[in-house]
Amino acid sequence: MKEELRILVQAQYPLIYLVTSEEERAEQAIATIAQTKPQRRVFIWTVTHGIVEYGQPRSTTQHNTVSPEAAVEWVIRQKEPGIYVLKDLHPFVDSPAVTRWLRDAIASFKESQKTIILMSPVQQVPVELEKEVVVLDYPLPTMTELNQVLSQHLDQVRSRRITTEVREKLLKAALGLTRDEADRVYRKAQVTTGRLTETEVDIVLSEKKQLIRRNGILEFIEEDETLDAVGGLEELKRWLKQRSNAFTERAREYGLPQPKGMLILGVPGCGKSLIAKTTSRLWGLPLLRLDMGRVYDGSTVGKSEANLRNALKTAESISPAILFIDEIDKAFAGGAGSADSDGGTSSRIFGSFLTWMQEKQSPVFVMATANRVERLPGEFLRKGRFDEIFFVDLPTTEERQEIFRIHLSKRRPDITHFDLGQLAKVCDGFSGAEIEQALIAAMYDAFAKGRDFNQLDIIAAVKATLPLSKTMSEQVTALRDWARQRARPAASSFAEYMQMES
Ligand SMILES: Nc1ncnc2c1ncn2[C@@H]1O[C@H](COP(=O)(O)OP(=O)(O)OP(=O)(O)O)[C@@H](O)[C@H]1O
Ligand SMILES: [Mg+2]
Repeated sequence: MKEELRILVQAQYPLIYLVTSEEERAEQAIATIAQTKPQRRVFIWTVTHGIVEYGQPRSTTQHNTVSPEAAVEWVIRQKEPGIYVLKDLHPFVDSPAVTRWLRDAIASFKESQKTIILMSPVQQVPVELEKEVVVLDYPLPTMTELNQVLSQHLDQVRSRRITTEVREKLLKAALGLTRDEADRVYRKAQVTTGRLTETEVDIVLSEKKQLIRRNGILEFIEEDETLDAVGGLEELKRWLKQRSNAFTERAREYGLPQPKGMLILGVPGCGKSLIAKTTSRLWGLPLLRLDMGRVYDGSTVGKSEANLRNALKTAESISPAILFIDEIDKAFAGGAGSADSDGGTSSRIFGSFLTWMQEKQSPVFVMATANRVERLPGEFLRKGRFDEIFFVDLPTTEERQEIFRIHLSKRRPDITHFDLGQLAKVCDGFSGAEIEQALIAAMYDAFAKGRDFNQLDIIAAVKATLPLSKTMSEQVTALRDWARQRARPAASSFAEYMQMES
């Protein structure tokens, strides 16, 4: 990345947008680049101090350069080769004068060894400059850089003699953080217990979770339920269990490729989200939910893409991890076709996502769910994109029995007086969610009457419910027909049924 920046500067790119919140690290990198031939001076602009030469005291500020317009004008007047870093210009780029001055500057830079670098934690490029600017994401610190930070803290607690293994764990726990953030979490761990050992890894990890929560697009999900909370879907469960150790070193040595991801299609309320969440427990990997709704940000060109890139970068830095994208059909609705409705943002996002899926080397397992297949772009479903596409159908009679057992057991310690077989029979066409809702309705009913609920209450609630498979029978039938051709059934009974058919 530093190399890329160096090349751009040497190739006399006039305007580079460096997206980073780590000013110090980035400035150091720029200063190093400025040392290589031809040597350049580095000037930094901030709205508080105007233009100051890098490494010089603030008192040496160039006069009257506090306003962004004046600063860029000053830059244009410079004759020598130079790198001009404008920090946090983004709130000003909406001003027509600032944008125009920048364009004037670019035009005047021809053959002049001058480069403006816009450095800011958010990417905000005005349309007028889109064609002229190169956007670079300054990457998060590597293990080596984090190691420097950690070493300083280890010196302070005089525990330099930790094993390489523990050191690696402490480093891995901080991966995905900026240098300053890593510094802070190590300090917190150190202050909490006065040490930095294996025990402190958890403190570092939980601090990291806090920091990721704040970024708003990715969310750590903690799921207490296990796979046992899911009724039926035996095929899908078997597939997942088989891959429990897929991200271990042992699996790599065996020669197995890393699983890429799975797509779970299906009828609403049949446990798609539930099974995705419980997989995290099964595999012992952190579950990160990517909220596609929050990725979209129409405020400036490129903001949505930057959001997605950042989120994926963070997910990779925490890997091995599961990246959970619920209702992906809503996010990528239309895909390539929706160019006119939102200026092409969703199709560009979709493109970036596919490329990332294709190229990713890091062990991030994508778990996506969808229930409107017709909205999913075809490229998505192509073989090889996901390891497997599962179809979750309405539960069979046996599966419904199982779902009743699970939800009744959650609410009452003894359920022997319920006839599960009968309950399963009366709710033909119900989804798992509808079964749960009927049960809750029955409980309310009995609760209001001041007694415990029984078999008949549940049957009455079931009778009073019109399931989705009836109200939306056409959609459900269409989905089933579609999935039969293209997806693997999540329940074994459907698999047997397919075998019978063929
Ligand atoms: N197979 C199942 N076993 C046990 N509970 C289930 C099952 N299916 C659904 N449920 C219950 O219904 C709730 C909703 O299910 P879930 O959110 O997983 O459905 P979904 O398939 O993701 O639906 P949607 O397509 O509407 O997002 C679950 O939290 C669970 O309590
Ligand atoms: Mg869901």
